Amino acid sequence: MTNHPFHLHGKRVLVTGASSGIGRAAALACAQAGASLVLTGRDRVRLEATLAELAPPVMPGTHAGHQAVPADLTDAAQLAALAEQAGMLDGVVHAAGITGFAPVRMLQRSLLDSVMGANFAAPVMLTQRLLFKKTLRDGASIVFLSSIAAHTGTVGVGAYSASKAALEGFLRNLALEVAPRGMRANAVAPAMVETPLVNTDPAFLAEKTKHYPFGIGQPEDVAYAVIYLLADASRKVTGISLDLDGGLAWT
Ligand SMILES: NC(=O)c1ccc[n+]([C@@H]2O[C@H](COP(=O)([O-])OP(=O)(O)OC[C@H]3O[C@@H](n4cnc5c(N)ncnc54)[C@H](OP(=O)(O)O)[C@@H]3O)[C@@H](O)[C@H]2O)c1
Repeated sequence: MTNHPFHLHGKRVLVTGASSGIGRAAALACAQAGASLVLTGRDRVRLEATLAELAPPVMPGTHAGHQAVPADLTDAAQLAALAEQAGMLDGVVHAAGITGFAPVRMLQRSLLDSVMGANFAAPVMLTQRLLFKKTLRDGASIVFLSSIAAHTGTVGVGAYSASKAALEGFLRNLALEVAPRGMRANAVAPAMVETPLVNTDPAFLAEKTKHYPFGIGQPEDVAYAVIYLLADASRKVTGISLDLDGGLAWT
């Protein structure tokens, strides 16, 4: 079964944001699919907890195990150290991200900088570092976490929406630049997913659920789309952002 196009056997994948929510679920699912993982996040305890839960990798011909490398991706030195320690990679999942709520008339430059720094500059510069160091193998797949917020409007989340729209603009150019090496760059754009990033008050979620024919997303729903984009099954797919909105767009 090692040639199955939906498997990740023999692939080494770096997952950012692996200490929580979608990144954690993506890491667990990628390991289940046979990948060997490099996990990163800021919180060492939660990162180690994810590491401890991973299924063993399926690595024909090698014995590379999983690895956890804590890092704050908004710190250039920590980002560079992570890129150094990650080694050769077949895929990257840029799941680390933050929110930031402020109606425009209350917006502070510091909030704009922190949201753009974590959600846009960090994944862009990590990608730059990996390409510059030539540690992404030919055929590697790069997956960004965008959001439907990149295409829709919600009161108070302009900075967040802009950070995700910027990421999508960036990835289409990246896709062209890396195509000669058989590398691909894509994004997944979920609507609301039940993670610590969002308001998990039951009454709030119940109200939101009314607008989702297939219900609010769970982290594993996003993880399965990430596996598709990392796997050889999607070898002709590049430069896209895949909406995962549970039918929200049609209500
Ligand atoms: N949840 C949703 O409804 C939703 C919808 C669409 C898109 N997304 C996107 O999906 C991604 C994951 O979100 P989530 O819901 O899983 O959020 P989450 O549970 O809050 O997890 C966020 C992750 O990002 C990491 N992180 C944040 N800032 C970082 C930094 N400066 N350096 C390194 N790591 C950092 C966190 O690390 P620590 O916890 O270790 O600090 C954590 O692992 C984000 O990009 C988000 O924008 C989420």
